[in-house]
Amino acid sequence: MKLMKNHHSIRAKSAKFSQKHKMSLFLIVRYKEHSKNLKNAMHTIFLDQIDSTQTFAKENYTSFPEGQITCVVADEQTQGRGRWNRNWVSPKEKNLYITYYFSLPRTSSHLSSLASLLCVTLVQVLEKMGFSPQIKWPNDILLSYKKLSGVLCETSFQEESIAIFLGIGINVNMDKEELSSIDQIATSLFAESEQIQDRTLLLDNLNKKFARNLKVFQKKGFFSFLSFLDSHLAYKKKRVALFDGNKRYEGVVDSISEEGALNLFFEKTKETKSFFSGDLFPIL
Ligand code: BTN
Repeated sequence: MKLMKNHHSIRAKSAKFSQKHKMSLFLIVRYKEHSKNLKNAMHTIFLDQIDSTQTFAKENYTSFPEGQITCVVADEQTQGRGRWNRNWVSPKEKNLYITYYFSLPRTSSHLSSLASLLCVTLVQVLEKMGFSPQIKWPNDILLSYKKLSGVLCETSFQEESIAIFLGIGINVNMDKEELSSIDQIATSLFAESEQIQDRTLLLDNLNKKFARNLKVFQKKGFFSFLSFLDSHLAYKKKRVALFDGNKRYEGVVDSISEEGALNLFFEKTKETKSFFSGDLFPIL
C-alpha cells in the first residue's frame, strides 16, 4: 500500500524539481475542500523513492512556498541519514521518512530545542493512539526502551532567516526480522502492537500537530513544552553515559532545564551540569 493513498494534499509542482525524482501521484481532488478546515495547510511533497528526504529538501527548498511548512515524505530512502553520520534503514512502504522544511527569523532562540519539539509532537500523537512512548534526550523516541524513531535537525543560516530541515524517521510496520538489520535495539509500532498501522493517518496527525506546536514555539519558544518533555524523559534518575562529541560523562538523568538542556547529576561531586547536545547511553 502506498503512503499517499486517500491522503489529501497538494500536488508538488514536479517540474520545479529534478526529473530524476519520481514524484508520486496522489489525490488532490479533495484538497481544496480539506484545506478550508485547516488554517495553515501544510505543503506536502510525496516521493516514491529518494536518496534522503533531508538531502532532497536541502537541494530544493528555494522553490518551496514561503511562510509555510513544507513536508517532504518518501516511501523509500536509499541513503537515509541519521545523527553522527549513521545510516537510517529505510525500506520501501514500511515506515515514515519525513523532512519538514520551514524558515525562522535569524533572531530566533531555542533552536536547539526544535528536535525536542518534534519528539514531543510524535509522543503526543502516539499517546492518542494508545502507545506509551518516552523521549531519549535529545532526539530519540523509545517504546519499551527500544528505538522507534529518531530526529535529525539541520540548519542553514541565510542573510535574514534560518532554513530549518527537521527530519524524522518512524519505524511503523517493520517486522522483527527487518528490525534485526538495524545496528541498535529498535522496534516498530507493528512490533509493539502486532497490528499493521495506517501510515497515512499517522502522517496526517503528525503534520497537523506539528503545525500547531510550531506556531506555539514561534510565539513563546520551547517553554510550553518543557514539562511535557521532562515528564516523558527516558532513564529518569538512572545512570547514563553521555558523549558530547568530545568527552564521555557518566551521571544520573535529572531533569530538563529551562533552556531545554539535559541536567545530569554527578554523584561524586554532587554537581549538576546542563548539556545542550550529545548522545546518551544507559548504563545497565
Ligand atoms: C537519528 O536517530 O539518528 C535521526 C534519524 C533521522 C532519519 C530521518 S528519515 C527522514 C529524514 N531523511 C534522512 O535521511 N534522515 C531523516
